[in-house]
Amino acid sequence: MDPVRNPYAPGAGQRPPELAGRDRELEMFEVVLERVARGRPERSMMLTGLRGVGKTVLLNTLRSQAIARLWGSGKIEARPDQSLRRPVSAALHMAVRELAPHHRAPDRIDEFLGVLKAFALRSTAGTKTVRDRWQPGIDVPAARGRADSGDIEIDLVELFTDAASIATDVGTGIALFIDEMQDLGAADVSALCAACHELSQTGAPLIVVGAGLPHVPAVLSASKSYSERLFRYQRIDRLDRLSADLALTAPAGREGVEYSVKALDALFEASGGYPYFVQAYGKATWDHAPRSPITDADVRVGGPEAEAELAVGFFGSRYERATPAEREYLRAMAALDDRAEETATARGGWAGAVSTADIAKALGRKPASLSPARDALIKKGLIYSGERGTVAFTVPHFGRYLRSQPAEN
Ligand SMILES: Nc1ncnc2c1ncn2[C@@H]1O[C@H](COP(=O)(O)OP(=O)(O)O)[C@@H](O)[C@H]1O
Ligand SMILES: [Mg+2]
Repeated sequence: MDPVRNPYAPGAGQRPPELAGRDRELEMFEVVLERVARGRPERSMMLTGLRGVGKTVLLNTLRSQAIARLWGSGKIEARPDQSLRRPVSAALHMAVRELAPHHRAPDRIDEFLGVLKAFALRSTAGTKTVRDRWQPGIDVPAARGRADSGDIEIDLVELFTDAASIATDVGTGIALFIDEMQDLGAADVSALCAACHELSQTGAPLIVVGAGLPHVPAVLSASKSYSERLFRYQRIDRLDRLSADLALTAPAGREGVEYSVKALDALFEASGGYPYFVQAYGKATWDHAPRSPITDADVRVGGPEAEAELAVGFFGSRYERATPAEREYLRAMAALDDRAEETATARGGWAGAVSTADIAKALGRKPASLSPARDALIKKGLIYSGERGTVAFTVPHFGRYLRSQPAEN
């Protein structure tokens, strides 16, 4: 079929032609926005799931919902070893700029921007060289004595409180979206929870909406035990059969193209309902299909091409980030994950958790000697530890991919 009209969009954060199977989350967020704007007690949402299930695109869609209600919004992607100050300042700057046209008192906005500037500049206080000093693009002078103590927890509470009061003035709210939550530093996580806690108690209309890997709840509760009551965790997972079919058929239908039932069977078999794979197999199959309706024979022809692309772009690019010792660890995991993947799925758990003791045994090593490899892989975002003493791949079908690769020597 005409590749120019190919509607599918495999790729991190790529907006899918049809956001299938997420109606519940979208409806829930409408209620959250409405309640928060009215000062009602409400927990914010935290999306958790493996890579490629659609957390980022869902987060972006939630942001559009907030904007449609005239909320101010900003988005951050957390990175390991990066402090929250600069990205939070930039995001709140953006949010307040969105609200400013609806606000009647420009001085209130300027006053807030002064506090925001002070908060932002605190990150470079103490830096001597001018070159290292970073300037937020804010035209008002920095305020003093608010959000600039240097203690991120105190400063964030003050900053959020002031930002929220701007939103109160205009009768809406502010939503701060944070992707890759698991990459926040411990002090920032703790400060963020404290700030959300404080704001929820006063009914201030500012919420933090997050997304991250399955162990985010564990990361947050290790930092503040009350975090479970602050956030409503929404597990974002593979699509069920109906939604996976819809993700393929709705965009095709708009191009006047149909699928045979057997083609949809074969595509679901290949993708397992994982949104990234749905897009990848859909795209390759479309390109190889000579005409509508698309058949299972077309899927068989297009499948290997999708697999080859995934092997490079989705799996290979991640595997390449691992050192030889880490690769050995990943391969040992993959060998053990063979069974774990099936059982976990059957129990409705996250895909295959493997015991770290078993990995050590398989490699003939002492568990402690493998900690550096394990910790590095967690930091690189290739594996996560949802439960003590276990690890699992953050990427679906990663074990299967590794098992299909020839051993390195
Ligand atoms: N609900 C959905 N329906 C169809 N495709 C989706 C859906 N959610 C995500 N996708 C597709 O899946 C891929 C991965 O999405 P992304 O948001 O980057 O996942 P994550 O952030 O969880 O790693 C993208 O190609 C996107 O178009
Ligand atoms: Mg993402």
